[in-house]
Amino acid sequence: MKLFLDTANLDEIRRGAAWGIVDGVTTNPSLIAREGVPIEERIAAICDLVDGDVSAEVVATSADEMVREGRGLARIHRNVVVKLPLIPDGIRACSLLSKDGIRTNVTLCFSAAQALLAAKAGAYIVSPFVGRLDDIGSSGIGLIRDIAGLYSSAGFPTRILAASLRSPMHVVESAKAGAHIATMPFKVLEALFEHPLTQKGLDQFLRDHASALAAAAR
Ligand code: E4P
Repeated sequence: MKLFLDTANLDEIRRGAAWGIVDGVTTNPSLIAREGVPIEERIAAICDLVDGDVSAEVVATSADEMVREGRGLARIHRNVVVKLPLIPDGIRACSLLSKDGIRTNVTLCFSAAQALLAAKAGAYIVSPFVGRLDDIGSSGIGLIRDIAGLYSSAGFPTRILAASLRSPMHVVESAKAGAHIATMPFKVLEALFEHPLTQKGLDQFLRDHASALAAAAR
């Protein structure tokens, strides 16, 4: 299971990468817009910080323009994965780019039927959005499980990237349901560390150690 950060913020990526557990990064147009810098510049900077897949999303909506834009994004760095929306033109662009050997991440996936189309088009990654499905009363984790079953029965090599994760429970349940990758905001990555008994236990160990040292010095 790979862990990716879902952010375009360099400070967050630096902090996550320093822990040695970040395998890649996903971005989207909203995350890039929040940073107020051109996408090419920001994707290049992210690729300098993390040696793993970095998804960069097109904003074109016709297949021909997506292909042109996708080729440009792929030229930024060998680790760039071109992110395409799961609409008919996105699927066509995915087929064309995949045939050219450009790796794609088909995003905004909300059903197993859509995931089937992404795999048929040769997507390297498909991104089902867990949190946004939960928000409308569907089961995001159930979708990950369905896609994992479908890909395994049909023999599709497309990697399942659980996206729109909102909590450590989402990350763990995605892994159990068969996702190959989980992408999450920095605050969710940070929350994976948290358990009250860890700090309490550490405080006790350190107190006992200090008492033992003090006793030995007497
Ligand atoms: C996926 O790659 C998307 O960038 C992301 O996970 C969307 O998450 P959100 O629903 O929290 O915006």
